[in-house]
Amino acid sequence: MVKICCIGAGYVGGPTMAVIALKCPKIEVVVVDIFEPRIIAWNSDQLPIYEPGLDDVVKQCRGKNLFFSKDVEKHVAEADIVFVSVNTPTKTQGLGAGKAADLTYWESAARMIADVSKSDKIVVEKSTVPVKTAEAIEKILTHNSKGINFQILSNPEFLAEGTAIQDLFKPDRVLIGGRETPEGQKAIQALKDVYAHWVPAERIICTNLWSAELSKLAANAFLAQRISSVNAMSALCEATGADVSQVSHAIGKDTRIGPKFLNASVGFGGSCFQKDILNLVYICECNGLAEVANYWKQVVQVNEYQKTRFVNRVVSSMFNTVSGKKIAILGFAFKKDTGDTRETPAIGVCQGLLGDKAILSIYDPQVPQEQIQRDLSMHKSELDKPPHLRPVSPIAIEQVTCVRDAYEATKGSHGICVLTEWDEFKTLDYQKIYNDMQKPAFVFDGRNVMDVDKLRQIGFIVYSIGKPLDAWLKDMPAVA
Ligand code: NAD
Ligand code: UGA
Repeated sequence: MVKICCIGAGYVGGPTMAVIALKCPKIEVVVVDIFEPRIIAWNSDQLPIYEPGLDDVVKQCRGKNLFFSKDVEKHVAEADIVFVSVNTPTKTQGLGAGKAADLTYWESAARMIADVSKSDKIVVEKSTVPVKTAEAIEKILTHNSKGINFQILSNPEFLAEGTAIQDLFKPDRVLIGGRETPEGQKAIQALKDVYAHWVPAERIICTNLWSAELSKLAANAFLAQRISSVNAMSALCEATGADVSQVSHAIGKDTRIGPKFLNASVGFGGSCFQKDILNLVYICECNGLAEVANYWKQVVQVNEYQKTRFVNRVVSSMFNTVSGKKIAILGFAFKKDTGDTRETPAIGVCQGLLGDKAILSIYDPQVPQEQIQRDLSMHKSELDKPPHLRPVSPIAIEQVTCVRDAYEATKGSHGICVLTEWDEFKTLDYQKIYNDMQKPAFVFDGRNVMDVDKLRQIGFIVYSIGKPLDAWLKDMPAVA
């Protein structure tokens, strides 16, 4: 029986390995992590991450051919294929701080693999890493290998949170990069055989190592670039009276452009887009490509601009101050159908409003209160660390309360900011909400999911990103 071990039981390691176990009943899959509470949660009824469809997959194979364990070394030693899916956050200090990927967790995993291995292994980069990481990993493994043969493959993951299970069941493509040697090709074939259990052969792309590593960064950069492009366009729409949804629809009909990823928003979030673009920027700079680095930097800069622009709209609409005013925040996760808040635009928006002394009442159906308080109070460099290295009890911010439903959040408030596109926000009783709010009552829709006409009929003053402005807002221009 082939044995797979995955180091890192996070958003990628957990779902990816659960699907491999489900689709390959004859392969034993063990997911290991040094953060014990996560392993305990994976073995319980309350999985550590919220992902539609995940519970079902885990329940079908846990205890049969899928296991979660904190016994990292034992399972790595026994495995034929070791996936490494640990964090690769942006470096916060030293050379490359603020841009380069921090490979500390990767390096310690590689050293541990070399230490405990007693048989040949295929080591698979599942984490997103800088180009040429495989070369560095090879050096660590071969210099410590005691004669054991390691083959390194790059097999980046393209799943998106909220749709992870569907993405894994029916991937657009699986990418495998390896050495162009007979041993490298044999390793590629072994991994291909795993995916071939459910992925059609034409969807499995094999390349050299550097193409696979770079393609992952490139894919995220291109996706984020589309969002920044449409967000930049949204500012122009507001200035000219065009409607960004109509513009997106019109340009998306061009088959060369396509309709996906053209929704204007308060900004993209998630653990990877910003980190991976900054990583790309650093790689460009290291290769003397300053112009190319500057090109990609713009994508991140526009994202920051969009969040600032949103905050300024809120503040300027409310007579240029939100000091002492209650603002309801609907949605804190970086997108719907996940409880993940890493790099969520809600952090920047809330901090901007708190900077103007607003009082925030926050509701998200999946994000617990402690997480929100932690996100708003902790320094970014600490948030990027793996869970076991973060401070345990952050200081709660007084002006922030987290509540259990949207009605409680909005009661007595001056304005509502919709920051995540949760479906339940579309069907709330907005007449009741309006009745219970201070007047004039505002809605700032950061996701373009509200029925603007209906809200205006009720009496709300509504701001929707990139849409024609209310007369009220026109008179109070936001300066970004
Ligand atoms: P995560 O923080 O959810 O999980 C990583 C896990 O690795 C943590 O539980 C941590 O405790 C564990 N870990 C760290 N060092 C370890 C070690 N030495 N030994 C054992 N366990 C260790 O991160 P994630 O979201 O799963 O992302 C992992 C990688 O996948 C990153 O490189 C990310 O860029 C990439 N990625 C993420 C997504 C996504 O949607 N989240 C999608 C594609 C790719
Ligand atoms: C993204 C990519 O889509 C995945 O392919 C990739 O594997 C993953 O990053 C990764 O490497 O981590 P994810 O961040 O989970 O996945 O979610 P997305 O659906 O890409 O959304 C990212 C952000 O962009 C969210 O805040 C979302 O609201 C925003 N977005 C997305 C928009 O503002 N507009 C859009 O049209 C689409």
